[in-house]
Amino acid sequence: MPTLTQTEIAPSPAGPADPSEPLHAPPTIALPGVAQTLRFSQRQIEFVFGARRRLGGTFTVRFVVIPEGTVVTDHPDHARSLFTAKPDLVPSLTAESPLRPIVGPNSVLTANEPNHLRQRKLLLPPFHGDAIERYTQMISDVAEREIDRWPRGRPFPLAPRMQAITLEVIMSGIFGIEGASERGSAEHRLRTTVTRLANTSTSPLALLTELSNLGREDPRGLTRVAVSMLDRATYPLIAKRRSAPDLEQRGDILSLLLRAKGEDGEPMTDHELRDELLTLVLAGFETTANSLAWTWERLVRNPSAYECLRDAVRSDTDSDEHVEATIVEGMRSRPVIPIIGRRVAVPWRLGEYVVPAGQGVSISILLLHHREDLYPEPFSFKPERWLDRTPGTYEWIPFGGGTRRCLGAALAMAEQRVVLEAMARRLDLEADRPEPERAQHRNVTMIPSRGATVVVKARTK
Ligand code: HEM
Repeated sequence: MPTLTQTEIAPSPAGPADPSEPLHAPPTIALPGVAQTLRFSQRQIEFVFGARRRLGGTFTVRFVVIPEGTVVTDHPDHARSLFTAKPDLVPSLTAESPLRPIVGPNSVLTANEPNHLRQRKLLLPPFHGDAIERYTQMISDVAEREIDRWPRGRPFPLAPRMQAITLEVIMSGIFGIEGASERGSAEHRLRTTVTRLANTSTSPLALLTELSNLGREDPRGLTRVAVSMLDRATYPLIAKRRSAPDLEQRGDILSLLLRAKGEDGEPMTDHELRDELLTLVLAGFETTANSLAWTWERLVRNPSAYECLRDAVRSDTDSDEHVEATIVEGMRSRPVIPIIGRRVAVPWRLGEYVVPAGQGVSISILLLHHREDLYPEPFSFKPERWLDRTPGTYEWIPFGGGTRRCLGAALAMAEQRVVLEAMARRLDLEADRPEPERAQHRNVTMIPSRGATVVVKARTK
């Protein structure tokens, strides 16, 4: 099999600038703020690739709601400078994310230092790779049951099926709820509310609501309705678990958090628990589902990659390596979260530019993953490029990096490995149409516009 070798990438100095250095802003796009905001939120791919062609890999985007805008960069050295800096020098822009009015300002996703590190320490143990191992069998059972149900010979979108799997994994791993839940119960309410929220969040009304909630702490409009529905499901679940006779023995994350004590020796309040639980559900459910959906959207349009994977899995020859390489390439070519950001607290050098303290700096994962000097033929889907290469910490960044790196990365990788392997082993899939699916933006995620529609040609037990 041909392999693609990495070419040399020109280094670019980055990090806190010498205070005597004059500021030098990266170029900006010649469009009014309204047009930039709309194009960035609706057609981010065309927008950022177009900007890079005209302005180079570091440029400024202006938004209606954030007039000073954000600087966008695609250089791994710039990413390294932000990921390795002291956290209080580079607070995360997720504190300003549209999820903030839903999960509050103090969850692990939305808090900044010193609160953030405290929350992260509490949550890290159950998300560690070893802890995730024990979910593998459960994920496999859920995936096999789901695959059995899929129709043969007619097109259907994979994304909702992937969501059904990732929702089950979250309900079981995080809340400790397994199997079907009774209609009207808090478990049932949580499942239906989360699914409905995910499925309505691309409507124009939802997008307007998202914009009107940017930078706010208290939710408005539709978000307010959604928050009250989520609360009505979450608080009863917390209360039920708090009084469970087997709380001390339980392994689910809610039970671990109920038993955990903060540095002050106090347990978490119901309000704090609610914020963390919803953060985990909202951060972990659609991301993993759509990452899998994208990988299949690519596989069914790249027959030689699909065949390699299928052969490896079915003959059990280097199966794990091929599964891993396919997932890594899927996440490189279609990163579900295409951009992440920090706000620099001091003037920051980004190559030839120096941006002022207080400036938002975003790493375009999408642009970085499509640098020709890092990934020859960047627009081709080639899992084989990973068979003799390990993903570099600052070159493959679908989970971000540093102290804000995705807390659920090990769980997301485990889910993708198990589900991809089961599907490659049991199914022959085809694309319903030859043309690639466009990307659609939903909150902070980028998802396949037709949900990765496929046809099952054959299925084995
Ligand atoms: C393929 C699936 C996933 C992708 C692509 C993904 C991607 C990301 C990214 C890009 C970030 C921001 C990192 C940064 O700013 O440096 C993030 C943060 C986070 N993710 Fe994920 N994620 C996935 C699955 C999950 C899962 C399954 C969970 C948990 C159940 C989860 C929980 C979180 C949390 C709590 C944070 C905030 C971490 C912090 O700020 O300390 N994610 N994720």
